[in-house]
Amino acid sequence: MEPLDRDKLPTHLAIIMDGNGRWAQQRMLKRIVGHQRGAETVKMVVEQAHLLGIKYLTLFAFSSENWSRPPIEVRALMTLLKKYIRQETARMMRKNIRYNVIGNRGDLPDDVNRALDDAIVETAGNTGMVLTLALSYGGRQEISQAAARLARDVASGKLSAGDVTVDAFGTYLDTGGLPDPDFLIRTSGEMRISNFLLWQLAYTELYFTEINWPDFTINELRKALADFQARERRFGRTSDQIIKRNDPLNA
Ligand code: IPE
Ligand code: IPE
Ligand code: MG
Repeated sequence: MEPLDRDKLPTHLAIIMDGNGRWAQQRMLKRIVGHQRGAETVKMVVEQAHLLGIKYLTLFAFSSENWSRPPIEVRALMTLLKKYIRQETARMMRKNIRYNVIGNRGDLPDDVNRALDDAIVETAGNTGMVLTLALSYGGRQEISQAAARLARDVASGKLSAGDVTVDAFGTYLDTGGLPDPDFLIRTSGEMRISNFLLWQLAYTELYFTEINWPDFTINELRKALADFQARERRFGRTSDQIIKRNDPLNA
């Protein structure tokens, strides 16, 4: 098992769970079987993140662009999502995990929304990890909708244009209240962001692995986290400044 420093874990871990379809197709199975196996990986990652004490876990489960997939795959994904939510809520309660959703919930089928509402209400008082599902989510859509809401507030006099700072803008996003991700993992070898958290990833450490999501294991997760722990996050400063800042004699 990959050793980890419990004090240097990301506060917020975000994951683009990719490669379910290819995993299945390589095995002559239907793509939906890959999604079903992918749901098992989700359970493992949620469990591990909870055990490690990660405070925020955000999973890209369905993008705004994924609506363009064949209707049969979209339907199967929605059914799987509803089943996952219904089945996992009891476990979330035991682990003190709170559900959160980002994205355009209005696009989702009513039965999925009902399952989400029930899960969100039931877990609302939980104080452990926040599990955010990005559903019908697109970063550009989120930013443009935030800009529209902000414009309305300026027009109505609730806010003046001069008050539009980075922090103020952030509160208009779906992720208002969540810290930016420290670490992003994308599986399946694709090296792109695919419209995920465009604003929030400004200073996130990125990690890409060839492993398809259904094959992503506990040790692959630990390997990724160990990689994060070896990085120096400079936020525009110099390396010397970072070393001095971490040295108690120079604090
Ligand atoms: C990720 O796996 C799951 C979703 C996007 C819903 P894919 O379905 O994108 O798998 P590939 O990329 O086709 O292999
Ligand atoms: C990104 O994966 C969306 C999710 C993981 C939900 P895609 O498989 O849809 O990404 P692209 O279109 O190949 O970039
Ligand atoms: Mg994909």
